[in-house]
Amino acid sequence: MRFLCSFAFSIQFLLLFSSLFSTTLLTNCLPLNHSTTTHHHHYHECHEHESYALLRFKESFVIRKSASYNPFSYPKTLSWIPSTDCCNWDGIQCHELTGHVIGVDLASSQLYGSMDPNSTLFSLVHLQSLNLSDNHFNHSQIPAKIGELSHLRHLNLSHGNENTFSGEVPPQLSHLSNLLSLDLSSYTNQPLYLKSSTLTSITQNSTRLQHILLDFVSISSSLPHSLTNLTSLQTLSFYNCELYGEFPIGIFHLPNLTVLDLGSNQYLRGIMPEFLSRKLVVINLASTSFYGTLPTSIGNLTSLSLFNIESCSFNGTIPSSLGNLTQLVGLKLTQNSFYGEIPSSLFELKNLEDLSLSGNFIEGKVALEMFWKLKMLNVLELSNNKLSLFSKEESAVNNQTTLPPIHCLGLSSCNLTGEFPTWITNLTSLSHLYLSGNYLQGEIPSSLFMLENLTLLDLSHNWLEGQVELDMLSKLKKLTNLNLGGGNKLTFLEEKNTWNIIILSQIQYLDLSSCNLVHFPNFVQHLQQMTDLHLQDNNIRTIPDWLWSKTTLQSLVISNNSLMGEISPSICNLHSLVLLDLTSNNLVGMIPSCLGSFSRSLQFLRLGRNKLSGNIPQTYVKGNSLQLIDFGSNRLHGPLPRQLINCRMLEILDVSFNHFNDSFPFWLQSLPQLKVISLRNNKFHGPIMCPSTCSFLKLHIIDLSHNDFSGNLSSEVIKSFRSMTLSSPSDPVQFTDDFYHFQQSYVDISLFLFPMFNKGVIMDYLGRQYLHQMVAIDLSCNKISGEIPDIMGSLNRLVVLNLSNNMFTGTIPSSLGKISNLEVLDLSFNSLSGNIPQQLTELTFLDFFNVSFNNLSGPIPEDRQFSTFEDNSFEGNKGLCGIQLVKKCEDNSKLPLPTHDGDQESESGSLFELYWIVIVIGYGGGLVAGLALGNAFSGDVFILLKRLF
Ligand SMILES: *[C@@H]1O[C@H](CO)[C@@H](O)[C@H](O)[C@H]1NC(C)=O
Ligand SMILES: *[C@@H]1O[C@H](CO)[C@@H](O)[C@H](O)[C@H]1NC(C)=O
Ligand SMILES: *[C@@H]1O[C@H](CO)[C@@H](O)[C@H](O)[C@H]1NC(C)=O
Ligand SMILES: *[C@@H]1O[C@H](CO)[C@@H](O)[C@H](O)[C@H]1NC(C)=O
Ligand SMILES: *[C@@H]1O[C@H](CO)[C@@H](O)[C@H](O)[C@H]1NC(C)=O
Repeated sequence: MRFLCSFAFSIQFLLLFSSLFSTTLLTNCLPLNHSTTTHHHHYHECHEHESYALLRFKESFVIRKSASYNPFSYPKTLSWIPSTDCCNWDGIQCHELTGHVIGVDLASSQLYGSMDPNSTLFSLVHLQSLNLSDNHFNHSQIPAKIGELSHLRHLNLSHGNENTFSGEVPPQLSHLSNLLSLDLSSYTNQPLYLKSSTLTSITQNSTRLQHILLDFVSISSSLPHSLTNLTSLQTLSFYNCELYGEFPIGIFHLPNLTVLDLGSNQYLRGIMPEFLSRKLVVINLASTSFYGTLPTSIGNLTSLSLFNIESCSFNGTIPSSLGNLTQLVGLKLTQNSFYGEIPSSLFELKNLEDLSLSGNFIEGKVALEMFWKLKMLNVLELSNNKLSLFSKEESAVNNQTTLPPIHCLGLSSCNLTGEFPTWITNLTSLSHLYLSGNYLQGEIPSSLFMLENLTLLDLSHNWLEGQVELDMLSKLKKLTNLNLGGGNKLTFLEEKNTWNIIILSQIQYLDLSSCNLVHFPNFVQHLQQMTDLHLQDNNIRTIPDWLWSKTTLQSLVISNNSLMGEISPSICNLHSLVLLDLTSNNLVGMIPSCLGSFSRSLQFLRLGRNKLSGNIPQTYVKGNSLQLIDFGSNRLHGPLPRQLINCRMLEILDVSFNHFNDSFPFWLQSLPQLKVISLRNNKFHGPIMCPSTCSFLKLHIIDLSHNDFSGNLSSEVIKSFRSMTLSSPSDPVQFTDDFYHFQQSYVDISLFLFPMFNKGVIMDYLGRQYLHQMVAIDLSCNKISGEIPDIMGSLNRLVVLNLSNNMFTGTIPSSLGKISNLEVLDLSFNSLSGNIPQQLTELTFLDFFNVSFNNLSGPIPEDRQFSTFEDNSFEGNKGLCGIQLVKKCEDNSKLPLPTHDGDQESESGSLFELYWIVIVIGYGGGLVAGLALGNAFSGDVFILLKRLF
């Protein structure tokens, strides 16, 4: 959503460029141009065997309009008539002197059919140029015989859409040592693949190559270093080739390189060198793993027109030398880690049409007027940085400045304040407008609804107020995405008589969250193409039945409303749903049993915080996509259905705060992706154990608190929490890409999990951490007995460990001191005895510690964190002593002080005062004296002394 228009634009941009190249290839690269069809340019008639070969070639195809993608395609072979001079045929070129066919250009000729491996085409041995691009060869293979056309200089088998050749690119291609241009590219994924050995041979043999375009050809390897030997190279276009490894940096230095397109090779790494080739016109590294900083010398690339490094791993500041690149049309730095300010030199780039800086850490206060100096600006994306944008005088903008022809304006989270910026309504070409996450107040000006080119409007998360009338909205006939939700104070007025207007609406994505809706918006009924409907945080009470016929819906979010009654089983008609969220309503009755099996696409199912009762669905269709199931905080009961093991993708299962009655669901271990289980507040019972082996490989949050679990805690179970035990504690726990996508597009994950653990200790901590960093075990409030397994100490990624309110006996394992990430340790209300192990002082992140109400004894460790915990962390242990407690320690081993009779408390108090003076004296006299004296003091005074130093 956020970068939608930038994406659309870049594709457009590339297409534009690609078509430019094809034209240049056609006009510049052919030895003779199309005027050869006029007579005086050739002296020989066509050779008969070549004419025959061409006619046979023609006959092997049928004409089908859909075979070509180019809207201006036409069947060139219609002019190929037997017993006429083939040198006059459309698309044929003959040599001026010999009359041999040297060029065949059948680009966009609507040819359809399979390519014969023995095609007569390959008898045209004088061929120098072969262009069969944009025809449909029915997924046949590129014939190996092409390698026999040894004079070939230009070979173009590309397609404007999907390449219609498939299979392996024949290794014989490398025999074409005269090749100057090779184009096998297409625009969507295709089953054409090129072995890296073939690519290497080509680069070693066809050393004069000037243009090599392999977009969307699957190469799946690193690039051969021999590419750096192709000194004549001008175009290198390897967009989306599954390249990986380190990019040979020498390619940047090829003297004539003008186009370098490596976009969408996610695992291709590389750095930006000090530039040498001043001829570079296009650099596209978008969506690769290129990293490092941009060198100042980038300012030497004075021909550069497009510089796209979106979604890479670059950092550092934006070099002001970019301002030297006066030819720059597109500067796309979105989604990197650039920081610092926008160099003022950028505002001098008069040709700039696309300036995309979203998603970095760019800061500074910038007047929007600066950008209006860029008279050609089409796309301006500044969202999600640390910028503060402001507008000097609105009236000045309106009256004196001509605004550039902006199509896409991304100013989300740019600290815009005050009234809605009305100058925006002067941007008459505007199609995408993102203003979410600012501090805009007041009403939406009605002139905004005059921008009839708007397709995407996102005003969410502002302080806007007033009424939005459907009438106004219906003027935006091209609108596909509308987001007015999230924190605005808008009221939404629906008038019945506008329905017929709205029928025209193209709206697919609609977010009216927090819009004070009391009724389900009726006009939605007439939105035929609806895919996403987000109505959370309103006051809607009922869902109309017609909603169940919106089978195009992919996400439906009506959480936090006042929905009443039962969930209609007709909901299962929505078989395209990916996300269904009805949490926090007043829904009653059973969960429709079809909900587990109605859709293979459903990934996120959230019905928590309602009043649903009965059993949960028992059937889960095999091959389903469920990643998250949230049934928490309802009145559900019964056992957990074993069929849940069909949810192979499940990552989060939350059934907390219900009345489920079952034994420990060890069988969930067969779910390979399971990361979070919450069974909190139910009636689960019996021992926490697995009957045979245990392997919860990916689990990193388990909350079993407030149940009736009993028996000993099995070491086997603890040992099986492998991802809590990884040797490298910095690895984040990996959720699938879908999950992250969901998290970004829907709501921040820590907020989203909020209801999951209600006020549990895990939740308190999730507020501070992202889900993927949280590793937690909460077994509190059960009847678990026996000792705390020593193995617990090996879970070195744990952040939260809560074993409180159980019946644990024995000592606190000193191994817990090895859980170096631990921030919360709660062992309170058990029957633990012995000392608090000194090793726990190693837990330097420990923020919350509670061992109250056990039978612990001995001194409380005083090092590090421990000095910060207060008495309520320790109370209710008769044998404990320490400065936090009324009972101070009398360390017999170190303490040859006389024992006093009488009231211990007042005694300690006076001791403390007495020795305080001595310490101060000692301190005044220097370190050595202090320490020397210290040995003679009671434990707590000693500690105090140590702290003073
Ligand atoms: C191509 O022709 C050769 C001999 O001319 C023959 O041996 C071969 O089988 C033919 N291949 C196909 C696929 O027709
Ligand atoms: C290089 O080209 C020559 C001549 O065209 C050919 O004979 C040879 O097999 C080619 N080498 C490779 C590795 O393809
Ligand atoms: C580049 O070409 C030279 C000479 O033909 C050759 O020796 C060298 O190995 C080539 N380099 C690579 C990386 O292929
Ligand atoms: C680079 O281009 C120039 C001008 O087009 C040409 O003269 C020169 O030969 C080219 N260099 C190489 C190594 O092909
Ligand atoms: C390239 O840029 C660097 C740094 O901006 C500069 O010092 C150098 O002179 C430039 N080189 C050329 C050939 O322009």
